[in-house]
Amino acid sequence: MLKIENLVKNYKDVRALDGLNLEVKEGQVYGFLGPNGAGKSTTILSTLGLIFPQEGRIELFDRDVFSEGKFNENALVEAKKRIGYMPEHATLWDFLTPVQTLDIIADAFKMPKQEKEKRINELLDLVGLSETKNKKVGKFSKGMRQRLLLAQALLNDPDLLILDEPMTGLDPKGIAEFKEIIREQKKAGKTVFFSSHILAHVEEICDTVGVIVKGKLRVEDNLENIKREFLRKVGYTILIETNVPVDWSSSGWKVTPLGEKKYRIVAEEDIREQVHDFVASQGTKILTMQVKEPSLEEIFLKMVD
Ligand SMILES: Nc1ncnc2c1ncn2[C@@H]1O[C@H](COP(=O)(O)OP(=O)(O)OP(=O)(O)O)[C@@H](O)[C@H]1O
Ligand SMILES: [Mg+2]
Repeated sequence: MLKIENLVKNYKDVRALDGLNLEVKEGQVYGFLGPNGAGKSTTILSTLGLIFPQEGRIELFDRDVFSEGKFNENALVEAKKRIGYMPEHATLWDFLTPVQTLDIIADAFKMPKQEKEKRINELLDLVGLSETKNKKVGKFSKGMRQRLLLAQALLNDPDLLILDEPMTGLDPKGIAEFKEIIREQKKAGKTVFFSSHILAHVEEICDTVGVIVKGKLRVEDNLENIKREFLRKVGYTILIETNVPVDWSSSGWKVTPLGEKKYRIVAEEDIREQVHDFVASQGTKILTMQVKEPSLEEIFLKMVD
């Protein structure tokens, strides 16, 4: 559905994309994750033909839209009819209401009047703006603006949704609702590609996560596999308290004493049972044991390290 190969984009002396490869398959929800400045927006803008990359290939709906240093305008125009796009920094007309805003965009799509009204009301309901649909956008919070932008992206019932940091500015309820909308889109057979710099945003809803760091894709896999791989690097922390001091010298583990009978053990995997056995073999008892798995944020920090 969307395939990017060896994409290079330089902004003067800044190499924003350094041979990027990624693939979004039909029907997938793809989370495009990366820290600030990694090249997420540059990737999205290139895909939509809004900026000019220098090298590589971009394929949309099985057709090359960019190859050999140029855009295929025809293929791009056709592809864009089937794409809904939510930009990272969008300007909304402050003096218009959500209904008026969507009305103008629907006219740009030449949507018939009857269909237009129905669609606009459905969408405003979907994104939770029904009650404020006739209020001026100028007074809207960041989260409400995000919701309106999402409605705008969905207006032409696109097969592929491309969303640049769509959850920024949403509160936890807004994020949960947003994820629900994405799930509905997936159920309806749509493909979703969205960027974020927060790992929690891609949790629960993405089939595939691609992590971009300094213009290159670091990993592309499902989140479970990515987590498992990075869990090994971050490690498990086990905190234990024993009835008498323990001599750990023959254990081979990285043990830090936290008190006379309290210890911290850091291991690549869950070694609770081995710790139990070792302590028992020393003739001591474990009074308390806690396992601390790294948080999503810790894993993410390690990923982009
Ligand atoms: N118009 C521009 N002119 C010069 N440099 C740019 C321009 N746009 C982006 N860059 C640089 O290219 C790199 C990638 O930027 P990009 O906006 O694609 O990152 P991003 O992953 O979207 O970051 P963020 O999470 O902050 O939105 C950064 O180093 C950025 O400073
Ligand atoms: Mg960006």
